[in-house]
Amino acid sequence: MSRRGEKNLLIGLDIGTSKVACLVGELKADDTIEIVGIGTHPSRGIKKGVVVDIESTVQSIQRAVEEAELMAGCEIHSVHAGIAGSHIRSLNSHGITAIKEREVSQADVDRVIDAARAVAIPADQKILHILPQEFIIDDQEGIREPIGMCGVRLEARVHMVTGAVSAAQNIVKCIRRCGLEVDDLVLEQLSSSYAVLGEDEKELGVCLVDIGGGTTDLAVFTDGAIRHTAVIPIAGDQVTNDIAVALRTPTQYAEQIKIKHACALSRLAGSGETIEVPSIGERPARRLARQTLAEVVEPRYEELLDLLKAELRRSGFEDLVAGGVVLTGGSSKMDGLLDLAEEVFHMPVRLGIPQYLTGMEEVIRNPIHSTGVGLLIYARQHRFARRPPMSEARGIKAIWERMRSWFQGSF
Ligand SMILES: Nc1ncnc2c1ncn2[C@@H]1O[C@H](COP(=O)(O)OP(=O)(O)OP(=O)(O)O)[C@@H](O)[C@H]1O
Ligand SMILES: [Mg+2]
Repeated sequence: MSRRGEKNLLIGLDIGTSKVACLVGELKADDTIEIVGIGTHPSRGIKKGVVVDIESTVQSIQRAVEEAELMAGCEIHSVHAGIAGSHIRSLNSHGITAIKEREVSQADVDRVIDAARAVAIPADQKILHILPQEFIIDDQEGIREPIGMCGVRLEARVHMVTGAVSAAQNIVKCIRRCGLEVDDLVLEQLSSSYAVLGEDEKELGVCLVDIGGGTTDLAVFTDGAIRHTAVIPIAGDQVTNDIAVALRTPTQYAEQIKIKHACALSRLAGSGETIEVPSIGERPARRLARQTLAEVVEPRYEELLDLLKAELRRSGFEDLVAGGVVLTGGSSKMDGLLDLAEEVFHMPVRLGIPQYLTGMEEVIRNPIHSTGVGLLIYARQHRFARRPPMSEARGIKAIWERMRSWFQGSF
């Protein structure tokens, strides 16, 4: 069945609260990625980004992977998977070491990163990522690539992301039950950032917000490096739920009404427009003003944006994100949201649509697929980099050590 060279395939598995998406990318000779297959299936068994029902999750993953295999004409053996949920914690840390041979080597970089990771984290949490922000040699700050430089003392500033051991093990368990290996688990907003943010934006300072079904994930970048991450357990599902309760209609209709007619700014909804709302039980359908629907949706989005603004302020980066805010994820497609967000943040806000790869544009250029597309770009960077990139200074061996620790005890 395998018609494509497996070595050139990159697989991203986005296990979201609303859908599981499996993306197959083919790495071309010129280092670009072409999407050659995609499979999506409604997600059952995930709540707010974490696995709550293993059997249902396994089935959803299996369907999505089979569909992607069929479309790409390949067999999938291992995947890069996303991880999110309110168990995710992050902190900035700092390490110092002496430079052994007066010139910084990979061993010195490994040592200083090890020193930076030596902070007490709760016993039920494990390190997911150690993302170097900058290196300092003697008193010179802002060094991105220290190898080969001279000095006596090397310091590293890093952003550390940790996650609950049990949550990560459950994801790994579900994927392995489908007969697949996990190449790496990647924080979802980090992954989305690869798909929607430009290097110049990350340099200038930008706040990325991925509003999905169950969680809203935030990541702040300044000076080209990730500085802050957070997860807020409010997203599109709450909006659907609010509509179902306020309009007294079953959830599946509430979801349809939301996608077709809802608007996050009630003043944008024309007062004359009406929509048909199916009722619960045998009662006949009713007609309601579209503005009434917008009045239900607006406060929930406003609450979410206020929480995001408070988080940005708490992180201390509010004044440093000159590039503004980038919204992505399925729930960022809501009509009027960009205007509402600009009013709340007092900053420029744009929609983040996946970029930087080719093939199946009409499917891929959708904020729903930011995490999936980002996983492919992350996979390319970490598999084919000639030298370890900034975000994985410790290289492939470290990934394996980390993955092994997730696997332990997962069966
Ligand atoms: N056109 C649209 N307008 C508003 N909301 C939409 C639209 N299309 C999809 N959504 C909402 O987007 C959400 C799904 O987004 P997405 O696929 O990014 O979530 P997910 O990745 O499965 O979930 P999570 O990342 O939270 O685990 C659903 O709540 C859905 O109602
Ligand atoms: Mg998502």
